[in-house]
Amino acid sequence: MTEPTPASVAVVGSSDGPDAGPHAHPARTAAERKAALDAIAAEVRTCRLCPLAAGRTLAVPGEGDADTEVVFVGEGPGYNEDRQGRPFVGRAGELLVRMLATLGWRREEVFITNVVKCRPPDNRDPEPAEIAACAPYLHRQLEILDPALVVTLGRHSMGRFMPGARIGAAHGTMAAMEPATGARDALVYALYHPAAALRSTEVERQSYADVAGIPAALLEARQRRDLARSTPRSEPAARQSPEAPDAPDASQLPEASEPPTLF
Ligand code: URA
Ligand code: SF4
Repeated sequence: MTEPTPASVAVVGSSDGPDAGPHAHPARTAAERKAALDAIAAEVRTCRLCPLAAGRTLAVPGEGDADTEVVFVGEGPGYNEDRQGRPFVGRAGELLVRMLATLGWRREEVFITNVVKCRPPDNRDPEPAEIAACAPYLHRQLEILDPALVVTLGRHSMGRFMPGARIGAAHGTMAAMEPATGARDALVYALYHPAAALRSTEVERQSYADVAGIPAALLEARQRRDLARSTPRSEPAARQSPEAPDAPDASQLPEASEPPTLF
């Protein structure tokens, strides 16, 4: 294995054929995942399920690589996003892109979306009822993408996936994703919101340090997911390479494939 990239999703499901088991992608191929994401985006663009519909210019469903293993979740569209219908295209988005660049990643290689898909008036916080109304879209996006790692941007997004956590303590840390979020066998990793980093050089400095922890979080997330998905298998040898004797015992898996030189 080499430096982790966000788009090497061939771990399970997408290309493993019909025996990939109960944890396979609901939509198996990259083309099927893209079509499913496009269908959600079309629904979002005409959605009127909550009061935010009234104030939006364009809804912002999210965008990125349907094959990615890493999903970034912000809070909600701001002024520029509302005008363009795309996530993180203003100053906060530019900072996010600079941060991704420190990992050698481009925004097209990950998937970027928000907790609410329409801009709250005057950039106020989304109301709980608005978040609840919009939640099925994010849930379905996560189900389709089936990421290894979900990176939350800011405390409102973090609050969806790390209930009770405080951003001042949780930034730069990870936790197991609740499967009910749609992302099964995934880890969540918390970042400050890039808009907060624009307001404070200390938060910005800390954010770059937290971003530097993402590759390690991705490796751990992959390892954890491989472990979860390789354990109870009714046809153990079906997906092994020819020379592999049997499905490995779960206890043998951790560390096995980790090179020491990634960082
Ligand atoms: N802030 C967010 O939370 N999301 C965006 O898409 C842009 C800014
Ligand atoms: Fe629909 Fe979500 Fe927009 Fe509300 S915020 S109108 S639920 S897409």
